[in-house]
Amino acid sequence: MRKRIPTGTVRIGMYIDGFDASWFQTPFLRHHFEIKSQSQLDKIMESGIDYVYIDTEKGLDAACDEKICESTHHTVEKTPPPDIPAAPKKEAPKPEDKAFTDYISAKTDLIQIDKLSLIEATEINFNLYVKTGMEIVPLSVNHNDGGKVLITKDMLTSHGELLITRSDVQKYREYLRMAVKNTGAAKSQATKNMLIKENAKILVNELFNDPGSPKKMEACKETVGNVISSIIDTKGLITNLFTVNKHDYYVYTHSVNVSVFCVATAIAMGIQSEGELFAIGMGSLLHDIGMSTIPPEVLHKPMPRLSDFELSLLKGHVAEGLDIVKLYKGITPETLLPLAEHHENLMGTGYPLGLKGDKLHLSGKIISITNTYDTLTTSRPGFKAITPYEALTYLRDNRNLFDADILKEFITVLGKSSL
Ligand SMILES: [Fe+2]
Repeated sequence: MRKRIPTGTVRIGMYIDGFDASWFQTPFLRHHFEIKSQSQLDKIMESGIDYVYIDTEKGLDAACDEKICESTHHTVEKTPPPDIPAAPKKEAPKPEDKAFTDYISAKTDLIQIDKLSLIEATEINFNLYVKTGMEIVPLSVNHNDGGKVLITKDMLTSHGELLITRSDVQKYREYLRMAVKNTGAAKSQATKNMLIKENAKILVNELFNDPGSPKKMEACKETVGNVISSIIDTKGLITNLFTVNKHDYYVYTHSVNVSVFCVATAIAMGIQSEGELFAIGMGSLLHDIGMSTIPPEVLHKPMPRLSDFELSLLKGHVAEGLDIVKLYKGITPETLLPLAEHHENLMGTGYPLGLKGDKLHLSGKIISITNTYDTLTTSRPGFKAITPYEALTYLRDNRNLFDADILKEFITVLGKSSL
């Protein structure tokens, strides 16, 4: 039976049979699927949609009463969905506020981790923090040296993003290794992908904090190899290789997402050369390394509040990034291309060079699409993320800026892996 239920009552195991909103207003590419993970549930909860439809023959029924659940078996087609009011715009933080600088300082010392990587009823020996908007509070603090904290369902369903301190990264890595081993989940591709992604985020974070380290650069090369192997082995699936719920901008999360999108799109386009795939994967992983030279208070400042000088400083991250990466031996000229061209576009209105059409390399055309997509679907102070569908519509409507054939392949990649 098809039922219309309040979004707040949705739970894992239910089969979604549509949203009480237009496709354009949802964060999903598909509207008929079983909810299998917490991240899917989080996306639904955060969508701003009041009601969803479920099919109780394909999944769990609603545990709610007649007052809030209604069977739509006969009436759904006759009742048009109500207009969903636009989400209220949040007041952009004021950079001159102490709260803003405190927030930037706290955020810089923390690393965002995926909730999916933590397993209920296992123990951790590191501290967890949860970030909602600009508020960061301890979720579990291990006060006793060597003490442990039990992962509870409440922690995993808490609203907001989970973070750990950079000093606890090794403990988190060890937890991931042991949790996978003990739960026997090591053979699952989804688990492998989640580990590759979490590890890649940590490595990029470490490299961007120490961009002169050959050892960290080598570790990033290895992780790009793992990403390429995983995508080839799964015939183009990138599920769990990229971060879906992006409440805020983190350069390392963005870098990993863009790299995964670029490699998968290149493979979908028929590129098979190991060297070419590595160049686009590595170049796109490093595309924003120049951001490591930008002061955090400028990097996180809402765009409309940037002065002309700060904007030029921000745009300078491309040249800064090239200078950093060129210092490394073993980086090929092809690896530099995604970095050099990720803010260019077909019209020649991008930066730093304003390259036009056929002056852009293939990897530049690919990354200009994936970089824009990931940026548009990520919230940050003063900017509320738009849905994947809205971002793809924007890219499709701007054919003068983005290559239509490449975009088609990228959409196919996302369609296969979004849920
Ligand atoms: Fe950039």
